[in-house]
Amino acid sequence: MDISDKISPPIDEQLLLLSTELEEIKEKFIQSDKLAFIGKLTTGIIHEIKNPLNFITNFSKLSQELTEELREIIDGAGDKFDEDAKADFDDVLSMLEGNLTKIRENGERAQRIITSMLAQMHNKQEVVFTPVDLNKLIEEFSKLAYQGIRGNDSEFNLTFKTDYDSSIGLVNIEFQEISRVIINLVDNACYALNDKKKRLQGDFSPEILLATKKLDGLIEIRIRDNGSGIPQVVIDKLFKPFFTTKPKGQGTGLGLSLSYEIITEVHKGKIEILSKEGEYTEFRMLIPSNLG
Ligand SMILES: Nc1ncnc2c1ncn2[C@@H]1O[C@H](COP(=O)(O)OP(=O)(O)O)[C@@H](O)[C@H]1O
Ligand SMILES: [Mg+2]
Repeated sequence: MDISDKISPPIDEQLLLLSTELEEIKEKFIQSDKLAFIGKLTTGIIHEIKNPLNFITNFSKLSQELTEELREIIDGAGDKFDEDAKADFDDVLSMLEGNLTKIRENGERAQRIITSMLAQMHNKQEVVFTPVDLNKLIEEFSKLAYQGIRGNDSEFNLTFKTDYDSSIGLVNIEFQEISRVIINLVDNACYALNDKKKRLQGDFSPEILLATKKLDGLIEIRIRDNGSGIPQVVIDKLFKPFFTTKPKGQGTGLGLSLSYEIITEVHKGKIEILSKEGEYTEFRMLIPSNLG
């Protein structure tokens, strides 16, 4: 050991060290404040652009159907147009269809990016409970998650069944956090349904049930799929951070641990899993109805 280790540095050096440490702490505070601000801003922006994006993809789909109709009208017009004019129409229509496809595909791509950003972003510092139409939130964000999956695999289809309790009215919740839970759970359900569909090849109708219910002092939310189910030995590990059974690049193992935290810590509620391997999985959540 060096003898100098045993001798304390002079007081002015100690002060200097202390002040640089203080500077570092201050900088960290500023950084985390900035991060929180950026997080808040981004979530705000995402919510603002979600609806216009829906318009873009929906209207491009509708316009594509209109070009098909136009094609049929021209085809059915018999000899009102000569062959040259028909060929010109055809050229323009093909270009129009190509453009619409690009608009739709890119709109869907942006929707996918938004979905995954919303699912990941978690702004712990800013917990704000507001009265929310919970049924509408569940409906909207399930569709968003489903569109996200379909963007990667347009072959994938499922039927949503709903059993909303309209008497729940407005529920005091943290809007963004619960949106994230819905996206994560529906995303997982879609994956499990797709997985089962690929294995069964054909003879299977993928379904997701979305349900709410008013109980005594509590609101119950259920999200149930008839997908691949979960083996009993795995169930206990599901809420652990980084636990995933998905191939590398497809799963982070964070969706359920995040959802668990949001339901149990932020909302002081409960989340439980009911599942039978190969048959179904249900996530049942209970949230106190008098929060905030
Ligand atoms: N609806 C479901 N059906 C079957 N398995 C599920 C379902 N939801 C979650 N799981 C299982 O839980 C694991 C963890 O989920 P999650 O925390 O969202 O991480 P990730 O989706 O990134 O794997 C998944 O890898 C999967 O094995
Ligand atoms: Mg997941």
